[in-house]
Order: sequence, then C-alpha cells, then structure tokens
Amino acid sequence: MSDLSVISSGRPLLLVGCGKMGTALLQGWLARGLSPDAVNIIDPLADQLSEQFPTIAEARLTDNWSSVSEITPSFVLLAVKPQTMDDILPRLSAYVDGGAVFLSIAAGKTLSYFAGGLGKEAAVVRAMPNTPSAIGQGMTGLCSNAYVTKEQKTVCAALMKAVGEVAWVENEGQMDAITAVSGSGPAYVFHMAEAMIAAGEAVGLSADDAKRFALKTLYGSVALLEQSGEEAGVLRKNVTSPAGTTEAALNVLMAEEDGLTQLMTRAMQAAAARSRELSE
Ligand SMILES: NC(=O)c1ccc[n+]([C@@H]2O[C@H](COP(=O)([O-])OP(=O)(O)OC[C@H]3O[C@@H](n4cnc5c(N)ncnc54)[C@H](OP(=O)(O)O)[C@@H]3O)[C@@H](O)[C@H]2O)c1
Repeated sequence: MSDLSVISSGRPLLLVGCGKMGTALLQGWLARGLSPDAVNIIDPLADQLSEQFPTIAEARLTDNWSSVSEITPSFVLLAVKPQTMDDILPRLSAYVDGGAVFLSIAAGKTLSYFAGGLGKEAAVVRAMPNTPSAIGQGMTGLCSNAYVTKEQKTVCAALMKAVGEVAWVENEGQMDAITAVSGSGPAYVFHMAEAMIAAGEAVGLSADDAKRFALKTLYGSVALLEQSGEEAGVLRKNVTSPAGTTEAALNVLMAEEDGLTQLMTRAMQAAAARSRELSE
C-alpha cells in the first residue's frame, strides 16, 4: 500500500466515473488501505454510491463539477465511456497546472488524444484493463507520455494492481496488440467455453453436463498451467498418449493449415487492426 501513500486528503485521487470499472477499482483501493478521505468521486449517480461506500464522506461523492473545482488532485482516474471523454476533458484541464497525473482506462483513447484535450504538457498514462478486473483477476497494459515521472508511474501501476496484474509497454503502438491479446481476450475464452459446451452436447452429453464438464476443465487447466510452472506445450504433451483420444482431437485442432494457432492469429490480427483504426 505504501505506493499509494502519496495520495492524501490534501492531494486526493479524483475518480471520474464510478460505473463497473470505477467501482471495482475503488473497492480494490479501499481494500488495500487507501484512506477514504483521499478520494473524491464524480458520477451522475453519486447519491447512490454512499450506500455502497459508507466510509467515504458524502461531501466526497458528487455529481456536480463545481464541488470538485477547489480540490488539487494528485491523480485523476478517468473511468467514463470513451464517448463521454470529449465532454469531460475541458473540465479537467485546470488540474494540469496543479501537477495532476491523468490515468485513463478508456478503450482507444490515445496519448495524443489527451494531449489535444488537456494540453501537450499534461502527464498522461493510458491503461488497457480487461473484464476479469471486475473480480480482481484483470490484466492491464500501461503506457505513459514523457511527462509522467518514475514515481508517478509506480503509483499508477499500484492503482491498477487493485484489480489484477499490470505490465508497462514502452511503445504505445503495442497497446493495439495488448488490446488484441488481453483486452478482447476474455471473449475468446468465453467463446472457447461456448464451443466446448456445444461440442460436448454433440458427442452425447446433456446441456447441463456439457457445461459442468467443460467449464471445470477450462478452469482446472488454467490453474494447473499457472501452478505447475510448466509450459503449455509440455502440459499438452503430458495429456497426449500416442494414438490416443487426445491425439485424435489435436490432429484436428493442430492441423497444419487451418489449426487453432492460424485461426487465433487471424482473429488477433483483426482485433489489432481494428484497435489501430479506432485510435485514428
Ligand atoms: N468494463 C470493462 O471491463 C472495461 C475493460 C477495459 C476498459 N474499460 C473502459 O473503462 C471505462 C469505463 O467502462 P465501464 O464498463 O466501467 O462503464 P460504465 O459502467 O458505463 O461506467 C462509466 C461511468 O461514468 C459515468 N459518467 C457518465 N458521464 C459522466 C460524466 N460526465 N462525469 C462523470 N461520470 C460520468 C457513468 O454514469 P451513467 O451510467 O449515469 O452515464 C458511469 O457510472 C470505459 O472507457 C471502457 O472503455 C472497461
């Protein structure tokens, strides 16, 4: 928690937008010991948040920008939808002179977009989290512009660690690849679950059994991969006896020209290309 100790009631964190991601982050920060007096929150539904966050004083929860005009935030966490960003940036530019760091989790909003809205010298960090962040199991990629200090980067990483793991990239262009791998990635896994359930039914299980056997297999396999420390390929070979059932299936999944690797590569190339398009 010491990385967050620079955030104080005098130099608080301003959370802009307390929807799904904002709530998950705030829960994580408070659970990790961030003082409730060191956070200000602005959201149209602020009056409903006091029940959910009883330790945060009502004066710190607002739907009114004039209530936060006097504060000098050290960090501003932007957790609104990308399409709302144009409206709120003009309200935030006053914090630039106060030395605030802006940490955005909005998909597709680039560092140069924020330079356009906040001024070229604003310190900005861009984060790409994913939906498992909602249960503290997220993976977040981070990149920053040149105005963010090493110490401020440490705090930004600590803020995002509240909902999972984090990793920095040097080059913002890699955010398109991160979007393709981990940002959109949960959908690939959910689709894999759908495919295994449908195929389980096709080979003779009831819908309920297909779901039960497929989901526990997915969950257990990922846990084994993480806990054993082995490479995925080694664990795959461990399940595959020569001329056995797994080999019969893998002959289909690992077919040289249209196997899963080729399919996944095409899928992620499409996602990365779309991410580049959306950032333009
Ligand atoms: N959900 C994810 O897993 C995920 C993953 C990666 C990135 N992200 C990014 O995270 C951001 C937030 O996503 P989310 O899923 O948390 O969306 P969300 O649940 O809709 O949360 C956005 C919040 O911002 C509020 N808001 C709207 N206008 C505002 C304003 N002018 N000032 C202050 N607050 C305002 C919204 O209130 P109303 O509902 O009343 O409009 C809502 O509570 C998005 O930019 C998204 O790209 C999310």
